[in-house]
Amino acid sequence: MTDRLIIFDTTLRDGEQSPGATMTRDEKLRIARALERMRVDVIEAGFPNASPGDFEAVRTIATTVRDSRVCGLARATDADIDRVGEALAGIDNGRIHTFIATSPIHMREKLRMEPDEVVARAVAAVKRARQHTDDVEFSPEDAGRSEQDFLCRVLEAVIDAGATTVNIPDTVGYSVPAQFGGLIGELIARIPNADKAVFSVHCHNDLGLAVSNSLAAVQHGARQVECTINGLGERAGNAALEEIVMAVRTRGDVFDLEVSLDTTQIVPCSRLVSGITGFPVQPNKAIVGANAFAHESGIHQDGVLKSRETYEIMRAEDVGWSANRLVMGKHSGRNAFRTRLAELGVEFASEEELNEAFARFKELADKKHEIYDEDLQALVTETNLAASNEHYRLVAMRVCSETGETPSARVTLQVDGTEQRATAEGGGPVDASFRAVEAIVESGAKLLLYSVNAITSGTDAQGEVTVRLQREGRIVNGQGADTDIVIASVKAYLNALNNLSHESTRRHPQGGDV
Ligand code: KIV
Ligand code: ZN
Repeated sequence: MTDRLIIFDTTLRDGEQSPGATMTRDEKLRIARALERMRVDVIEAGFPNASPGDFEAVRTIATTVRDSRVCGLARATDADIDRVGEALAGIDNGRIHTFIATSPIHMREKLRMEPDEVVARAVAAVKRARQHTDDVEFSPEDAGRSEQDFLCRVLEAVIDAGATTVNIPDTVGYSVPAQFGGLIGELIARIPNADKAVFSVHCHNDLGLAVSNSLAAVQHGARQVECTINGLGERAGNAALEEIVMAVRTRGDVFDLEVSLDTTQIVPCSRLVSGITGFPVQPNKAIVGANAFAHESGIHQDGVLKSRETYEIMRAEDVGWSANRLVMGKHSGRNAFRTRLAELGVEFASEEELNEAFARFKELADKKHEIYDEDLQALVTETNLAASNEHYRLVAMRVCSETGETPSARVTLQVDGTEQRATAEGGGPVDASFRAVEAIVESGAKLLLYSVNAITSGTDAQGEVTVRLQREGRIVNGQGADTDIVIASVKAYLNALNNLSHESTRRHPQGGDV
């Protein structure tokens, strides 16, 4: 009989821990719905004790998502565990994921705890979590650098205490495939009650080995893989969901495992996550990069035309690369607009919100005749942004760019309800516009990243701009979309400034205090 591989997505938790990838509750809900539509088995929705906003996000996802399990993360403390219990209260598809570090360096330097204390804490945490739900996962953080004998001891104890999944994280991405696969095999063989829990892995990509390590672990008996869309995550990220799933599907001869995912949702989901977080997908990224199925060389093109299998091992349409779907034009009505967005997983909270988005759609349709799903996604992101954090709002702008002349920009902003205007020159129209904004706002923020992507093809495509700013150690992203990329740039810059102006008092789950 073929075994199943459980796909555990942590885009909304570990993915959100990437600097600048912070998401609002509504954005998280949109991604959670897309993951559910893709039939992901488990969605790690967040770390509820990070802040009241994080709690609300997990609670909202838990009470909305029905077809996937919804998981919340907790350090091994009563306060964290009870907070997850509260966020998942009343649902029957909830999971509590609790963890404590087990490597010598983490126990000594971060926790300042003796190994015996760590075992006791782990067991107590699992027992506490079992008071809230029967579905409890335990992770020995930094397992990749932990001693094998100690891991066996901790894992046996937590399985005895009621953990139904034990997850082995390579927290710092230190492992290499043969060794990590071997570790999983050894743990399963040596732990006497290993058959009472599902073995899971969670690999970081610091050496670019997250996917390889995860797959090696699967070959040695792991039956859950933790991963993220586009490989988002702390530092170099986590194992990419799309790569794990397609490797297991495409190489059924090697893995012989069932994965219940609807893979046609992979590309739409990747775009949604990239649009919301502002983390672009590199063109040569496997499965979801723009070039993943493009054949440049003449020899390859010729081969593919004669027989696709000569150079393609997967079908583009199986991972959701349908040709851009023309969904609507300027004559499309409100109902068609609402229906298509519902198909994309977007529902409006009120008639006003729908009207606002529809007005933007009509404006866009006047500038761009063919509107694709990607345009609609960007439009909804824009509408949500406009509704959420409007400390600074763009009222009008004018840009002059001429050969032989210094570009200049005049920008009018509404700052807390009052209009202010400034003019500035710069190296190019975007630089001049940002300088004009700064002349008004005086944020003192450092620009870390500026990137522009065309959302669809054609010169009338909307440009989607990401701006990353840093001030006093805090990093935020901002996004903006428009058929005019200078306007999109200013929208993105203002969005980042608005995000920066919001206070943040979130706890980081792996920050060190237990
Ligand atoms: O990388 C890690 O160790 C984690 C744990 C919280 C599972 O993200
Ligand atoms: Zn992690």
